[in-house]
Amino acid sequence: MGSVWWLLLCIPVLSPAFAGGVIRVYYLGIHEVNWNYAPTGRNVLANQSIAQTLLCIMMTHSAYPFEFNSQASAFLQSGKDRVGSTYKKSVYKQYTDSTYTTEIPKTRLLGFLGPVIRAEVGDTLKNELLELGSPKEKEEESSAINGYVFGNLPDVKMCAGDSVSWYLFGMGNEIDIHTAYFHGETLKIRGHRTDVASLFPATFVTAYDPQETLGDGC
Ligand SMILES: *[C@@H]1O[C@H](CO)[C@@H](O)[C@H](O)[C@H]1NC(C)=O
Repeated sequence: MGSVWWLLLCIPVLSPAFAGGVIRVYYLGIHEVNWNYAPTGRNVLANQSIAQTLLCIMMTHSAYPFEFNSQASAFLQSGKDRVGSTYKKSVYKQYTDSTYTTEIPKTRLLGFLGPVIRAEVGDTLKNELLELGSPKEKEEESSAINGYVFGNLPDVKMCAGDSVSWYLFGMGNEIDIHTAYFHGETLKIRGHRTDVASLFPATFVTAYDPQETLGDGC
């Protein structure tokens, strides 16, 4: 079964001015958590329960019933030999200092990714890593964005007029050829204006979005 995850992240564009070679230390702890890929319990896109969605997938893809049904249900359904939508995952958490007592919260949008490590040209990054539990994982993943499926990614909010960068990458294997489509909005990728980003496995692009049309002005 293919496994894939994308990063869909927008943050304000960093200032191009150099900070003069600062040393930035990040304290990161690796934790084992129970990660729920569908925390609402629903297919938010279709406004359906996960069970209804699985039935639709099975009926719609009757030409490949085994492949589609087994992928979706093996991944999300609960049962005597199924763990449902919650899986053990190792995630990184960021702490204020080497005592690893005060966590720096991150946006829910990042899902099981992050924290975001920021630096400017000329800086030195020091990452101090502490392992706080190692999982014995059942590896069975499906397509997800930042660890969310079926529209469970929290809403991405931005203001009209903001300049934002989207860092997009795809992971997986030869069957994971995905596109990120920005409905009604165009982005600049490698000098081209486009509304679709191709995300072949292990590719990374930065897309700039001048936010001319989206957002509420805040
Ligand atoms: C979603 O479905 C529920 C019933 O299952 C309904 O009450 C609600 O109005 C629906 N929401 C939308 C946005 O269609």
